[in-house]
Amino acid sequence: MTPKTASLASGTLRYFDAGSGAPMVLLHAFPLGAEQWRPQLLSPPAGWRLVAPDLRGFGGSPLLGPPAAMTIERYADEVFELMTLLGIESAGVTGLSMGGYVALAMLERDPSRISRLVLADTRAAADSDDARAGRDRMIDLVRREGPPRIAAEMLPKLLGSTSAREQPDLALTVERLIESNAPEGIEAALTAMKTRPDRTALLATVACPAVVVCGSDDVVTPPAECERMSRRIPGASFVQIDGAAHLSNLERPEAFTRAMVGGGQA
Ligand code: MLT
Repeated sequence: MTPKTASLASGTLRYFDAGSGAPMVLLHAFPLGAEQWRPQLLSPPAGWRLVAPDLRGFGGSPLLGPPAAMTIERYADEVFELMTLLGIESAGVTGLSMGGYVALAMLERDPSRISRLVLADTRAAADSDDARAGRDRMIDLVRREGPPRIAAEMLPKLLGSTSAREQPDLALTVERLIESNAPEGIEAALTAMKTRPDRTALLATVACPAVVVCGSDDVVTPPAECERMSRRIPGASFVQIDGAAHLSNLERPEAFTRAMVGGGQA
């Protein structure tokens, strides 16, 4: 898995590019990075080209501005800019959790550039007041104690008990990914997430094939909530991934990839 670098107007963005065929953009969760998609990138489904960027401030994409200025829309615009640089007019877009927030912002900006929408372990609603207060607490934590403290806070919520039992190394992989991020990038994403608007009404406008995926043991965005979201999207299917929690693409890669590409048809 060799990363590549794109020169965007705002600065460089690191991404991975694997496989060939119809393009599918993979948008990672908070506070990880494009390496979250390692299982999919190492084994791209036949007929698909997978493009996975580190969103601005994560992995190898430097933040380049004040954390307080970050928005979900800015992540979305940069993904479109990356697609343009790569000669991709329209693509499937898979967003997991925070990546799903970015996917919905892309859909709002320009639905004509999205040919398939995969929303995984995510929600369309904005943060509640309690959730916003939680973001402020996390901002304070990352400023004072850095990414390792954020990893310790989040890990128990990200992976399920089945993964802990059957794939004990996965927690270490996720911890390493979180800790490799700069504190400012994590703070920027917390700001972006807490200020994102409610995009529930947008779901009814989806005109491309869509699927909502959720781990059966996801406690962050539980299956019942994800299924309700899928019912708001015309023609969307809902796929529950048994034995996975919030990071379903990492915990059950094969089942996730199957759901993502809908049986492999580009
Ligand atoms: C994520 O996995 O991206 C986060 O749980 C999203 C969030 O905190 O809202």
